[in-house]
Amino acid sequence: MSAQLTNEELVQIAKDFGTPVYVYNADKIEEQYKTLTTAFDPKRVKIFYAAKALTNLSVLRFVKKLGANVDCSSINEVKLALQAGFEPSRVLYTSNGIHFTEIEDALLLGVFVNIDSLYNLQKLGEKYGGKYPVGVRLRPNIMAGGNLKISTGHDKSKFGIPVEQIDQLLEMVKKYEIKIQNLHIHTGSDIKDASVFVKGIEVLFDLIPHFPELKSVDLGGGFKIAYKEGDPVIDIQELSEKVLGAFDAHAPAKNLEIWFEPGKFLVSESGYLITSVNLIKETAATTFVSINSGFNHLIRPMFYDAYHRITNSTNPEGAIKEYSVVGNICETDTFAWDRPLPEVREGDLLVFFNAGAYGYEMASTFNSRFRPAEVIVYKGTAQLIRKRDTLDDLTRNQVMVDL
Ligand code: LLP
Repeated sequence: MSAQLTNEELVQIAKDFGTPVYVYNADKIEEQYKTLTTAFDPKRVKIFYAAKALTNLSVLRFVKKLGANVDCSSINEVKLALQAGFEPSRVLYTSNGIHFTEIEDALLLGVFVNIDSLYNLQKLGEKYGGKYPVGVRLRPNIMAGGNLKISTGHDKSKFGIPVEQIDQLLEMVKKYEIKIQNLHIHTGSDIKDASVFVKGIEVLFDLIPHFPELKSVDLGGGFKIAYKEGDPVIDIQELSEKVLGAFDAHAPAKNLEIWFEPGKFLVSESGYLITSVNLIKETAATTFVSINSGFNHLIRPMFYDAYHRITNSTNPEGAIKEYSVVGNICETDTFAWDRPLPEVREGDLLVFFNAGAYGYEMASTFNSRFRPAEVIVYKGTAQLIRKRDTLDDLTRNQVMVDL
C-alpha cells in the first residue's frame, strides 16, 4: 500500500490554495514511520526525525504525535521543535561548525548535543567539565551517499572529529572528565546499501571500550528512497537485521541503544510541489515550458542534478511530447531537459513528486519572488500550514535609508 495523493486531490488543492504550493501527505509520513517501527525493535532503536528535511511546525507536531524524536541542525531548529511540542528530552542537536555559545544555548534548553569538533569539546570541558553529558560526532572516513555534495563521512569531509584524532579526543575527555554518552556518525544522504551502516558500526565498535559512560550509538540518516521508478532503495528490514545482528555479535555494544536520524525517508515521498504553466516557447533545440516556479522553490534538480518526477495533472491523458521544464527566475533554472509529458498548455498544473524533503526547506526569495504556500493533507482533509509570502515578507526586516 502506498499513500499517494490522487491527481484529482492535487488538482483540487491547487484550486483551493493556488499555486505554487507545497503539499504534504501526512498519511504517507505515517506509513513511512510505521515501516521503521515495524522493522526496528523500539526497545533498542530510537528514531530521530532529521528536521532539516522539512521543519514546518505542523509537520514537526505530527511526527512527534507518531512517537518519533527529533534531530536538529541549528539552534533555531531546536527552538522550532520545542515550539512544536517536543519535550527537550526528545530533542537532539547534531551540531557542525557552530560557535560554542550555540551549544551552550541548546544544553541550557535541556537538549542533548552531539559535538563535532575538538575545539568545542575543549570549550565544553573547560567551562562545564562533566556537568552536561554529550555525544561526539566522528568522521569515520567512509565514502557513501548519492553524490559528493551529500557525502559527509569521507576523509576530506568537514563533518565530525576525524577518527584518527581519537587519542586527542580521549585525552580531552579524561582531562576534563567529560561524559560521552553517544557516538555519532552520518556518512551521507541517499545511501542504498545497508552494509554502509555496518562499515560505520565496525569503526565505532573499536572505539566503544574507551567510552565507559556510553549509552547509545547514533548511525545518522541517509536512507535512500526512490526518486525514479525502479530506483534502488534501501531495504529497511535488511538494514535492521544487519545492524542489530552486528550489535548482537559484539558484546560491548549489545546493550547500547541504536539511534537513526532519517529525514528524506520520512518526508520526501509525502511531498508534492504544484506549479502552473506560464507559457510555452518553441525553439529549434527544444520546447520550453515555463512554470511559476524556479530554483528559488525547488533547488535539488539544479544543485544536485536530482531527478524529480513531473506530471501534467490537468491533462494526464494528453499526447506525449518532449518538453524542457524551466523556471521563471533570471538564471538557468532547468528542472528537466526534453522530458516526455502529456501535452502541456498555458495554465496546466505541473506537479513535482518527492518534494517533501529539502524542497520548501531550501527555498529562497531570490529574484524577490515569494516562497510557496504549504498545505498538509491527513485522512482526506487538506489544511493550510504556511501562507504564501507577500511583499511584506520581503520588506519586513529592511531599513530603507536615504544616503
Ligand atoms: N543526520 C545528519 C547529521 C545529517 O547531516 C542529515 C542530512 C541527516 C541526518 C538526514 O539525512 P537524510 O535521511 O535526509 O538523507 N539537501 C540534500 C540532502 C542533504 C542532507 C544533509 N544532511 C538533498 O536534497 O539531497
